[in-house]
Amino acid sequence: MTRNIPAESIEQVRLASDIVDVVSGYLTLQKRGRNYFGLCPFHQEKTPSFSVNPEMQIFHCFGCGAGGNVFTFIMKMEGVTFPEAVKLLAQAAGIVLPEDSEDIDQYREKEALFYVNKLANEFFLHNLQKAKEAQEARDYLQNRGILSQMYAQFDLGYALNRWDGLLNHAKTKSIKPEILLKAGLVIQKEASRYYDRFRGRITFSIRNLSNQIIGFGARRLADDDSPKYINTPETEIYQKRFILYGLHTARESIRRENKIIIVEGYTDFISLNNAGIKNVIATSGTALTEEHARLMRRYTSNAIVMYDSDSAGAAAAMRGADILLENGFEIKICTLPNGQDPDEFVRTHSEVQVKEILEAAAPLIDHKLQVLQKDDLLQTVNQRTSATRELLASIAKIGDQIQRAYLVRDLAKKLHIEESALWNELEKQSKKTRFTPKTDAAPRDSTISANKFFQSKKGAAELALLEMAVLDPDLIPRILQNVHHDDFSHPEIRRFFQLVDSSEFDPLSFSPENYIATIQDASIASHLSDSFSEKSFASFSWKYASDCIISLQLVQIDEEIERIREEIRQQNKQSKNTSSLVHQFQQLLEQKKLVSKGEFIIS
Ligand code: UTP
Ligand code: MN
Repeated sequence: MTRNIPAESIEQVRLASDIVDVVSGYLTLQKRGRNYFGLCPFHQEKTPSFSVNPEMQIFHCFGCGAGGNVFTFIMKMEGVTFPEAVKLLAQAAGIVLPEDSEDIDQYREKEALFYVNKLANEFFLHNLQKAKEAQEARDYLQNRGILSQMYAQFDLGYALNRWDGLLNHAKTKSIKPEILLKAGLVIQKEASRYYDRFRGRITFSIRNLSNQIIGFGARRLADDDSPKYINTPETEIYQKRFILYGLHTARESIRRENKIIIVEGYTDFISLNNAGIKNVIATSGTALTEEHARLMRRYTSNAIVMYDSDSAGAAAAMRGADILLENGFEIKICTLPNGQDPDEFVRTHSEVQVKEILEAAAPLIDHKLQVLQKDDLLQTVNQRTSATRELLASIAKIGDQIQRAYLVRDLAKKLHIEESALWNELEKQSKKTRFTPKTDAAPRDSTISANKFFQSKKGAAELALLEMAVLDPDLIPRILQNVHHDDFSHPEIRRFFQLVDSSEFDPLSFSPENYIATIQDASIASHLSDSFSEKSFASFSWKYASDCIISLQLVQIDEEIERIREEIRQQNKQSKNTSSLVHQFQQLLEQKKLVSKGEFIIS
């Protein structure tokens, strides 16, 4: 990234990047009171002193003093610059940033893709609610326990059974078919002949984490030989390896429950939600990816895989489980009775029974053993050997050494085999196993104490004034009466005082958290979040503030004195008259006395 990122884009990224979410991508947080705590990634510790404050959207470590906002967290964690951090967070949130001139077009195009998807979503919903021909769809949904008041809640819709339903609707909004094509909503037959991709189907809208519609899955109504679902293909804004259906609504409860339930289908997601189980996402037919797993790890490291009980579902569940294992999940497998999928199970059982079957989910290794046993694959020595290998292959994917040790001991017992034999085999397998590299958490030193400027008299005074202003905004107008915002030499501090320098400034409506979240300077963000964590709101005496202002005035005078002294020296060398300079010099010394007594302070 080379250009400046526009402020509104930074703002958009900030709003989409919840600090608890972001930090959870790197470490496990636990809620204690209003804050979250975890082991600090920036220094070695055994008890968690790293805190994240969701209201303020800041982090702070009581151990090492690291702190800041969501941007500076990423800067420190990934060792990147501010724009790079914004870019990383934007990517994670599915936000497209305009980059250089060429990319501006791309940016506009993506915005257009979001727009047409939104339009299609509204059109489909309207059809489902109102269109005459959608009666069949409404009946179909009702049969499946989905009532009209749930359509909007679950982003359902109906695509008219026409070649040009959406095309025409878009035309009335002056949208060109080319952009519908790029959004995957229409298909191009020949040059300039387009038709709707989704026809006569119930639509399920797919959203990203910023809550924008990015695509659709569309189900047939009748059991004919057309594909059961037709989906938006990969587009600029719908990259399937990053998207999990329902995550944007489920994430809060996933975090709260510290558990994620993974299902395959849209309808599974909806039924579970209707049964009051909200910590669910659907992989919607795509294989689980590494990116999916990392995305989920932001919220929890406990997963229950609840796939269809047919053999295809089981196979998919096992592939997904392996990826989850490699990404540090503890996995349980929920087995549904005879050929059912979660949707059917939920609709034919009570809520209590649903909770029970989830409770009964077996840890992955146990589940694998059960399956082997059930399929009579633990009879002969050969069978047992290959079964053992297979199970160890899963264990080898686990990074957590303690968890491994427990599993090995458990497995040895169950298979009646020496633990050491398992360890030997595991050793061999581990060498083959790829571990996902962890981010290098080595701190880039960006603390205030490492910053020379803040050790200078001027720097210390500017920083103290900023701190007081943010924590006690009542002081701001008085500070600005004495120091012009342009006189602050640190760019961030100057920016702050520029921001609040207005006759309309209202200390009561000043929101320090909003300000802290916009700071691009890591050391200042850290320092302020630090003060905040300790003091929250504070009231400072004007005496303290005015001392800092005096310091700034003195520095200014000293600089002036130094300049005159130098000039006198130069003039003397050339044997010129210096009397007027000397006079100025003496005046400055007089002034300095007055300044240090606070004579120039307006209070
Ligand atoms: P399922 O066949 O289990 O669908 O496929 P489902 O959601 O349970 O649907 P119902 O209950 O039969 O109506 C699971 C997921 O796989 C994707 C869809 O995302 C579906 O939700 N899929 C399935 C497709 O993309 N295309 C298909 O043809 C079938
Ligand atoms: Mn299904």
